[in-house]
Amino acid sequence: MNRVIDETALVLGIETSCDETAAALVLGGSDVVSSVVSSQVDLHASFGGVVPEVASRAHLELLGPVIARSVVEAGIDERRIDAVAATVGPGLIGALLVGVSAAKGLALSWDVPFVGVNHLEAHLYAAFLDDPTIDFPVVVLLVSGGHTMLVEMQDHGRYRMLGQTIDDAAGEAFDKVARFMGLDYPGGPAIDREAAEGDPTAVNFPRAMLNDGLNFSFSGLKTSVMNHVRRHPDDDLADVVASFQAAVVDVLVTKAGRAARQVAAKGLVLGGGVAANSLLRECFLDVCVAENIRAFLPSAGMCTDNAAMIAAVGWHRLRSDGPTPLDIGAIPNLRLAVID
Ligand code: KG4
Ligand code: ZN
Repeated sequence: MNRVIDETALVLGIETSCDETAAALVLGGSDVVSSVVSSQVDLHASFGGVVPEVASRAHLELLGPVIARSVVEAGIDERRIDAVAATVGPGLIGALLVGVSAAKGLALSWDVPFVGVNHLEAHLYAAFLDDPTIDFPVVVLLVSGGHTMLVEMQDHGRYRMLGQTIDDAAGEAFDKVARFMGLDYPGGPAIDREAAEGDPTAVNFPRAMLNDGLNFSFSGLKTSVMNHVRRHPDDDLADVVASFQAAVVDVLVTKAGRAARQVAAKGLVLGGGVAANSLLRECFLDVCVAENIRAFLPSAGMCTDNAAMIAAVGWHRLRSDGPTPLDIGAIPNLRLAVID
């Protein structure tokens, strides 16, 4: 297993932390050769959320074919693969175990290194798949279903937490408001579509902690939307969700700009499922122009869970730390390793 991990190294990434079964082949840490994502959204839709046991079983069925397809789409022989990376956490324990076990088995049988990847770190890296030329420091706004954080990235693998949510994550707020309003599951994309038809200035929802540091709070906003709808049942749905979305995005980009100024960042990076939101993408670019810094925006497919970002981080961690011992298990509550 004396593989050299350099620009020519091909890493197979595997992602099964939640409800997407994904495999990808990435060359040299940023060149996506193939990326296959099989979403279980339809399986979970009737439950209005991800059912862990259903997710684990679906990963078991789907992972083999998804990996095979990623190899076929890459047009390579599997003996060309130099390492196998898999998400070890955070996520659903049963779902994670499917990917981790498969990755270890493949690494053993191909006699190549295995590397365990932190899913949060992978979201931080998703934007670099499109543009790997980074000048540090950069500030990453990571907004997903489970996390909302502002992270200063001082170098590869070196992070400082600048702020995070004290209650709900931004994606969670989107999902909860969508559910309350009777919109489709998953809620984020449904609100994004509906808001396009509405007036974002129709209701002036509160911007919690807007002028107060770099932490976030979204649970009060969700309650405000519910109270507003109860008091004004005849208000146009599109206006209400457009106003809600505008409030979330306003807080996110204001704080991202403030964080960038605070650490004299050379760029702002967006990551996580909510990075697919059209208003957030637009306002994020505006704030980068206003601050005169570079914008790193993942392509739509790289915002939500995928395995290309896992393979990319796997490549970097293999170079910095070497392979992960095979006795590592799934770590459902894994956090981002930060300095001070
Ligand atoms: O990163 P991700 O795929 O999974 C986690 O690691 O959490 O993020 C999923 C979250 C969900 O809350 C979903 O509603 C939200 O991202 N999301 C969006 C959009 N697309 C996905 N939120 C707002 N607008 C979107 N277009
Ligand atoms: Zn994710």
